[in-house]
Amino acid sequence: MTSIPFVKGSDFEHNKLDIFRNIVSHEIAKLSEKSPEEVYNLLETPKNSEHGDIAIAIPRLRIKGNPAEIAQSWVEKFVPNEYVISATAIGHFLNFKISHPLLAKILLQHIYDAKEKYGSNNSASGKTALIEFSSPNIAKPFHAGHLRSTIIGNFMGNVLEANGWKTIRMNYLGDWGKQYGLLAIGFEKYGSEEELLKDPIKHLYEVYVKINKDVETDKDVDDKARAYFKNMEEGDQTAIALWDKFRNLSIKKYKETYARLNINFDVYSGESQVSNKSMLDALALLKEKNLTQESQGAIIVDLKKYKLDVAVLQKTDGTTLYITRDVGAAIERYEKYKFDAMYYVVASQQDLHLKQLFKILELMGFDWVDRCKHINFGMVQGMSTRKGTAVFLDDILEQTKEVMHEVMKQNEKKYEQIEDPDMVADVIGMSAVMIQDMSAKRIRNYTFNWTRMFSFEGDTGPYIQYAHARLCSIQRNCGLSINPDAKIELLSEKPALELIDMISQYPDVVKSALYTLEPCTIVTYAMKLSHTVSVALETLWVMGAEREIAEARLLMYWASRITLGNSLKLLGLKPLERM
Ligand code: ARG
Repeated sequence: MTSIPFVKGSDFEHNKLDIFRNIVSHEIAKLSEKSPEEVYNLLETPKNSEHGDIAIAIPRLRIKGNPAEIAQSWVEKFVPNEYVISATAIGHFLNFKISHPLLAKILLQHIYDAKEKYGSNNSASGKTALIEFSSPNIAKPFHAGHLRSTIIGNFMGNVLEANGWKTIRMNYLGDWGKQYGLLAIGFEKYGSEEELLKDPIKHLYEVYVKINKDVETDKDVDDKARAYFKNMEEGDQTAIALWDKFRNLSIKKYKETYARLNINFDVYSGESQVSNKSMLDALALLKEKNLTQESQGAIIVDLKKYKLDVAVLQKTDGTTLYITRDVGAAIERYEKYKFDAMYYVVASQQDLHLKQLFKILELMGFDWVDRCKHINFGMVQGMSTRKGTAVFLDDILEQTKEVMHEVMKQNEKKYEQIEDPDMVADVIGMSAVMIQDMSAKRIRNYTFNWTRMFSFEGDTGPYIQYAHARLCSIQRNCGLSINPDAKIELLSEKPALELIDMISQYPDVVKSALYTLEPCTIVTYAMKLSHTVSVALETLWVMGAEREIAEARLLMYWASRITLGNSLKLLGLKPLERM
């Protein structure tokens, strides 16, 4: 057998297509006198698969001569081997065909060994990324923006891990500011210990709504709130103790709800956790660098020359603001984690805020600001039209489950066969919401579509889950076990070749998601894979086929199931085995 040449930047241990690309790179390197690395980076996949599997546009090599003639002369010089079986020239493109039976053999063997690791790589070799996401505000609604941040942020964490990053998942709660002084005052008036223990998130919200009403009619309340918050900022023991209690009870409840989504945070931080010292140090440094100005007793940083308006860092009464806490938090995080990257998964309404934050950090001289990135996203419309009551994450999940349950009941016969309809409705419901959210580029606004997203046809979460469940049922019902040595070369039909081809691309897709930082990169792939699976299932059956063919098909479907399952998990979804 030809030994596989190494090419820097490639990874044939995790990506079996790289075996073929590396061989092609070396061949072209010899002919063009370029380095294999240069060639590797120029390789493409032909748009039309009839043309071949790997291609290179000769002009991109930047060598002298007529590209079409060069392509033709290299075709003549190319010596086929067991991996790359032919070369053809089409215009200025040089195309190569690879041995599909060999790819299938190598690929399925690899998936059999890698299983849930299939698609992952360790290219980041242990670099650390901090991902801050979800970050709801205590005593306030968990709105669509928080839901999107939760879904996208968790995905970001998964993708980074799949590419070898160490991750720190952080929830930065909105839990500080004058409004929390208001909440404390409200609790004195309207609070109930019992209700607080029963459902802290809901109760604090009720209290907050009531006291906010009072503010409208009674100006005193506002002054009291301001004074209370000043006490909190000055570290008043009683004020802080009450606040800690609200916060801890809320976190406990949040944890339960996130668990339903399989989301775990490594750190529950929050605005209240930023130390006074780091904020005062930051202010002192800004002052020392002549970056601050006083304006009617407040301290501001003028960012107008960067077209970023003005940032107020300290109010007249000496208290801090949202941005002050973010400056302090970023510095603390860098000191503590020395992250190689930090991602803020926050709605695009806060574009200006984050730009100001990054600019201030830059002006302060922190070069690690280059490692910070705002992962922004557009708005969702019409999320709570159904009942108009979705205020908390819990409600959103409950409502989704209910609707899904109704949809499932429409097919009575099938419904009767489901063992745990409640769990199934819960998971498919979440899949519906999450796939809808991640189907388009993050920045696009979209309208929550209560009908379309639950459909089992079209580009939906239920459709992908259904494809996965079908693959599981084939395995359960065929009476055969998975044989990694099955004669995969027997699979010569077009739908089989296309399916194997599709599976082989998964490691590429995982890698590219790290560059696009777009969940739709994975959703699009999962959708195409599901579609390719269902085309294959129309004609290529396991049951009833001759033993050797049945085993080969089973291995192929099993590998499809692993791949589809891995992509669902990457998106943050639990793959369903039955539905
Ligand atoms: N709690 C904020 C909100 O609900 C989001 C926090 C975003 N993160 C940050 N570091 N500012 O709007």
